[in-house]
Amino acid sequence: MKIEKNKSLKLLNTFGIDVIAKYFVEVCSVDEFRELCRDPEFVRTRRLILGGGSNVLLTGDFDGWVVKNSIPGISIAAETGGEVTVKAGAGENWHDLVMWSIERDYAGLENLSLIPGLTGAAPIQNIGAYGAEQKDVFDQLEAIEIGSGDKVILKAGDCAFGYRDSIFKRQWKNRFFITSVSFKLAKLSSPNAHYRYRAEYGNVRAMLDEMKVQDLSLKAMSEAVCRIRRAKLPDPKELGNAGSFFKNPSIPQAQFEALASKYPEMPHYPQEDGRIKVPAGWLIEQCGWKGKKVGRAGCHKTQALVLVNYGGATGREVLEFAESIRGSVTEKFGIELSSEVNII
Ligand code: FAD
Ligand code: EPU
Repeated sequence: MKIEKNKSLKLLNTFGIDVIAKYFVEVCSVDEFRELCRDPEFVRTRRLILGGGSNVLLTGDFDGWVVKNSIPGISIAAETGGEVTVKAGAGENWHDLVMWSIERDYAGLENLSLIPGLTGAAPIQNIGAYGAEQKDVFDQLEAIEIGSGDKVILKAGDCAFGYRDSIFKRQWKNRFFITSVSFKLAKLSSPNAHYRYRAEYGNVRAMLDEMKVQDLSLKAMSEAVCRIRRAKLPDPKELGNAGSFFKNPSIPQAQFEALASKYPEMPHYPQEDGRIKVPAGWLIEQCGWKGKKVGRAGCHKTQALVLVNYGGATGREVLEFAESIRGSVTEKFGIELSSEVNII
């Protein structure tokens, strides 16, 4: 393992924020990480685990260890007639894992195509898109407890998955280094396969029609999702961003009714718990932020929920911009937005 000192993280986060890590190390195996855990200095010092850096906002130089997870490998851990358990190293690129599954006719990940980042981060915020979440197919994960260096296996019941949420963002924040994640996928080649595609979300069906798809397939579903995403979301290689900056808020029914009488056109989605989800992108757009630029930070022109770095912005600049947005949404609608992005 090569330990680097005073390393720039500019190319290691999709916001493209240029900060310095005091120590930086790339970990390519479980043993390498365990070796780090044997160093009391490492365990005592402030640490940041980094995957693809696509859900972090770095607000200053990092006075500690940044550990980039690059543990590779995709394998089949178990198989029955109709199901396969696919185990992926935490350092595998997420979209590559989705493509790997689709090529083999393993179903369950296709709606999550083109989400940036690495597999090890998928359980952290329980990634989701187009009517699917990783928890729908999650089997288990393996991790190292940083304090003890012990290996643990965690099942879905341990992880408290929710909308863009898990125990790893709460009680167990910074406690574990995830080394692999396993997913249970349906084998479409099985003679008894009767898989239900999730095509009725947002404009997925309309895109499939535009693509003139007659028979649904994993490839077609993935392609439809990819086309919608490319049309809406900025490519971090061209414009620094971390996807949705805020979560979509869920508000109580009474608050919704009061707002709906004032804003009858407000999009809304009733939830199982009786609350009503309102798209944060709409709230932000109504406050006049869409397409606005303040200094080197801005609100994207086709997706108001995505904040961008027009080049050279500091993390603090982006954070201040986000705070202004949050403030005006609270003032106009009485709704508090909470960050989806991890502020470091
Ligand atoms: P990082 O940003 O590197 O890390 C995220 C958090 O996880 C950090 O707190 C980090 O410390 C922790 N972490 C990372 N790896 C490990 C590990 N091995 N062990 C322990 N902790 C770890 N997200 C969605 O859910 N749905 C979307 O549709 C979506 N679209 C996006 C579109 C764009 C253009 C962008 C830029 C981002 C989007 N995101 C989306 C957010 C992001 O892609 C996901 O959150 C992704 O899972 C982050 O992966 P990462 O490897 O980049 O994680
Ligand atoms: N909207 C606006 N103006 C905007 C953006 C959105 O009015 O500028 C309204 C529209 O009514 C639209 C609705 O918001 O119909 C929903 O917009 P969109 O379909 O673009 O989805 P989103 O709610 O903004 C969420 C996720 C995305 C995920 C998509 C698709 C969150 C915080 N974001 O976005 O995830 O890809 O749905 O499922 O839940 C991410 O987490 O980083 C992310 C990109």
